[in-house]
Amino acid sequence: MDDDAPDDAFSELKTRELQRWDVAQIAVGTGLAVYAMWVGLLQPGFRKVPLRLQVPYIPASRAQVRNVMALLRGRKGVLVDLGSGDGRIVLEAHRQGFTSAVGYELNPWLVRLARFHAWRAGQHGNVSYRREDLWKVDLTECKNITVFLAPSVLSLLQKKMEAELPDDALVVAGRFPIPDWTPCRTEGHGVDRAWAYNMKAQRQLTPNKMKKSPDGHLEKILKERQTPLE
Ligand SMILES: C[S@@+](CC[C@H](N)C(=O)[O-])C[C@H]1O[C@@H](n2cnc3c(N)ncnc32)[C@H](O)[C@@H]1O
Ligand SMILES: *[C@@H]1O[C@H](CO)[C@@H](O)[C@H](O)[C@H]1NC(C)=O
Ligand SMILES: *[C@@H]1O[C@H](CO)[C@@H](O)[C@H](O)[C@H]1NC(C)=O
Repeated sequence: MDDDAPDDAFSELKTRELQRWDVAQIAVGTGLAVYAMWVGLLQPGFRKVPLRLQVPYIPASRAQVRNVMALLRGRKGVLVDLGSGDGRIVLEAHRQGFTSAVGYELNPWLVRLARFHAWRAGQHGNVSYRREDLWKVDLTECKNITVFLAPSVLSLLQKKMEAELPDDALVVAGRFPIPDWTPCRTEGHGVDRAWAYNMKAQRQLTPNKMKKSPDGHLEKILKERQTPLE
């Protein structure tokens, strides 16, 4: 087809078609790009995690990080962040005095990104990121825990923590509270709010429910959760 066709009406029509086609292409292109990002960024590590337990990556805001840190102030030793994303909480925790900080994250790209951030900040020796499913992490030795997950998984996480955490553990939840627990302190408001929980106090408040569960109990819960999904 000759692009310099003298027929004005025809070329105008062609331009209009092209514009419409461009718009269509952009729409399809962005849709595909978003889909590719979803598959590429979110799915790789999550294939074995039941759909309902999949939590999307939403980075904590500055205010959220500040509030979580305020609730951890004065604590030291080891900090564990469940679902560490790009590692911002872990990195900040180390800056604020935790000798070492560990992030568990299933998404390999986020693990790489987090390691890059730590390397750039010159802190790669003191923080670590593990590509592991947080549901399989043994929490029995963890005493300083941060979580920022989705409400849909928090009651299951609550059960896991009740079953595994030692009495002297402190849990700080960002954005969403742990459903049935009573916080000892909170910081901030609205979406930036963070809640701190003392594990011993939870067990004293509802002693029957909070007994450490025998092995295999949590696996059962997880299995029950999976059934309606597949
Ligand atoms: C809401 S984001 C929070 C990220 C980070 N903690 C922050 O505050 O910026 C939750 C993170 O948990 C991760 N995640 C969700 N389910 C997980 C699982 N089963 N094991 C490990 N990480 C998980 C997601 O990939 C996501 O990066
Ligand atoms: C958690 O923080 C407390 C209080 O600072 C500290 O004594 C403890 O050693 C930390 N836990 C771990 C496992 O390092
Ligand atoms: C970081 O780690 C190194 C060695 O692993 C250690 O000597 C140093 O004290 C740590 N720094 C801080 C601030 O904890």
